[in-house]
Amino acid sequence: MTLRFFTLGMTVTFGSAWLFAVVLPFFKTRTIEPVPYVEALDGKTGVYFPKRTGQITNGAKVYAQNGCYVCHTQVVRPTYAGNDFHRDGWAGFKADPDRGDTRRESNVFDYQGEEFAQIGVMRIGPDLSNVGSRYEKAAIAKNTARKEELGDAWNDAMKVTPEEMLYEHLYDPRYRVEMRWSTCPSLRFLFEKSKIKGEIPAPKAEARALVGYLMSMKKNDAVPASMNYSPPKPAEK
Ligand code: HEC
Repeated sequence: MTLRFFTLGMTVTFGSAWLFAVVLPFFKTRTIEPVPYVEALDGKTGVYFPKRTGQITNGAKVYAQNGCYVCHTQVVRPTYAGNDFHRDGWAGFKADPDRGDTRRESNVFDYQGEEFAQIGVMRIGPDLSNVGSRYEKAAIAKNTARKEELGDAWNDAMKVTPEEMLYEHLYDPRYRVEMRWSTCPSLRFLFEKSKIKGEIPAPKAEARALVGYLMSMKKNDAVPASMNYSPPKPAEK
């Protein structure tokens, strides 16, 4: 093999990977046109705009600084690349009490307003695309269970909010005995110091921004039919 042939081979090998994995996606997603709703299919007109509330920018920074993206992804994969739909709460809920099946794949608009799309490196922990909706659901379940357990002793001031549950997780992911196995790192340093044991101290501004960001992760709003790669099968409608 001549050096020339070798160099050419290397260039083609790495060049094509770079072309298909970097250059093409860059140009494909650089200028994204708004996607219109089609009245016949979607039952409404206008253009799709993702809903997102919460402290996104600052929270995204805290998320990046603490390396959350190393273990957590933020992509619900297209089904051809691996099915995420069977994991309830990852892509949305199969049986949402109000909206029915809300599951959908991620799209480029999901990362709007973020400087970097923190799609993640590995999936050591669960995907966080819909972690906001998951915590909302978990808080409702927890409150309902406690209300049933306590009966008359219950009052509404005992309600936990999804944010409180997230603070508990961030302060100490291994707080509850059944979660002792968790490898999620504790963010204790984002909370004030407290001498009272068994109580989660007040969160600092960074922790509040991070929780705002995590609670904004509800990527299960309905997308136009033209963008829905996995529409429900006709029989399921
Ligand atoms: C070393 C890998 C690792 C890193 C880094 C990591 N996590 Fe985790 N995370 C996990 C694992 C494993 C779980 C599942 C166990 C659990 O719920 O504690 C998890 C669970 C979670 C959950 C609960 C998700 C759910 O649906 O119940 C949240 C929220 C979370 N992590 C947030 C974060 C944030 C925010 C960061 C960055 C500060 C972070 N994680 C960094 C491994 C990691």
